[in-house]
Amino acid sequence: MQEKLDSIKKEALDAVEAITEISVLEAWQVKYLGRSSAIMEVFKSLGTLSKEEKPAIGKAANIVKVALEAASEEKESQLKQERINQSLAGEKIDVTLPGRRTVSGGLHPTTQTLREIYRVFGDMGFQIYRSQEVETDQYNFQHLNFPPYHPARDMQDTFFVKSAEDRGDDPLMLRTHTSPGQIHAMLEHTSKYPDDPPPIRIILPGMCYRYEQITARSEIQFNQVEGLAVGKGIAFGDLKGTLSNFARRMFGQDAKTRFRASHFPFTEPSAEMDVGCFLCKGEGCSVCKGAGWLEILGCGMVHPTVLKNGGFDPEVYSGFAFGMGPERITMMRHHIEDIRNFWANDLRFLEQF
Ligand code: PHE
Repeated sequence: MQEKLDSIKKEALDAVEAITEISVLEAWQVKYLGRSSAIMEVFKSLGTLSKEEKPAIGKAANIVKVALEAASEEKESQLKQERINQSLAGEKIDVTLPGRRTVSGGLHPTTQTLREIYRVFGDMGFQIYRSQEVETDQYNFQHLNFPPYHPARDMQDTFFVKSAEDRGDDPLMLRTHTSPGQIHAMLEHTSKYPDDPPPIRIILPGMCYRYEQITARSEIQFNQVEGLAVGKGIAFGDLKGTLSNFARRMFGQDAKTRFRASHFPFTEPSAEMDVGCFLCKGEGCSVCKGAGWLEILGCGMVHPTVLKNGGFDPEVYSGFAFGMGPERITMMRHHIEDIRNFWANDLRFLEQF
């Protein structure tokens, strides 16, 4: 019997030695330690043995069983450790690999220009005033002294929200410029200080909309920054001084400016301001189309009728106003040829700023 036990032990231990996989070890456990394994059969047969033999054989069989169990456990932990080692080897970090670039967002080029405009006018004491993008005909045109049949009121130029059929002669529209904000700001101010309103010095930034053919030079949606100063004794010289100063702070101390006579219904006199082309310094290039000058903004002295519509007495108060397009300015500064880039959301464009 002892011999039999020895051979059971030898066979089992030899077999476990060669095992390299958990699934094989499991089969081994069934074969050598399971219910119908040879060693279990020995235990089952103990009953048939004599009183003298039983304790010795039982003890010897138990020693074999414990040895097999120990071998099984050892193999199991060895295989598990190997598996861990393997997966760790796969996860090894190569410290010589180049790092991953972190992508940081940036401000849209128009936003950058807008913020610079705010900073320059903020330094000059202008506050920011915002007003609504959906306007009435009254504010967008009538209060600004547009004659009834002015071409700018045409269906060709304006996005209507509620048509004339719904609202008579005061249809709702998307504002075509930021100028209606002038009226809102003046009325708010003069109703707050009806007797002797203190001066106003504001810029009015915001989105404007025009029903236009989208081309490289014109979009249906764009920003404007309006400016308005109203007070006693404000003259055209203040307008020129403020805007030339703005140009120097925005485009560099050597920026040249010139004012050309123009026309807007809500200013009189009206002008357009050009700055000397910062690319060719006035020599003429592709950005300024050979002119040496770039048109930056429209401006003028606030029309007496507009002052009156804002609650100011034009005999006592005067003011100047201006309006510029930040997208246009951004195009000039960065030599951007196509205004459609601003809304295309193309990262190849946006990441350059
Ligand atoms: N609102 C004018 C435009 O859209 C610009 C402007 C504003 C001109 C204020 C004069 C004064 O073209």
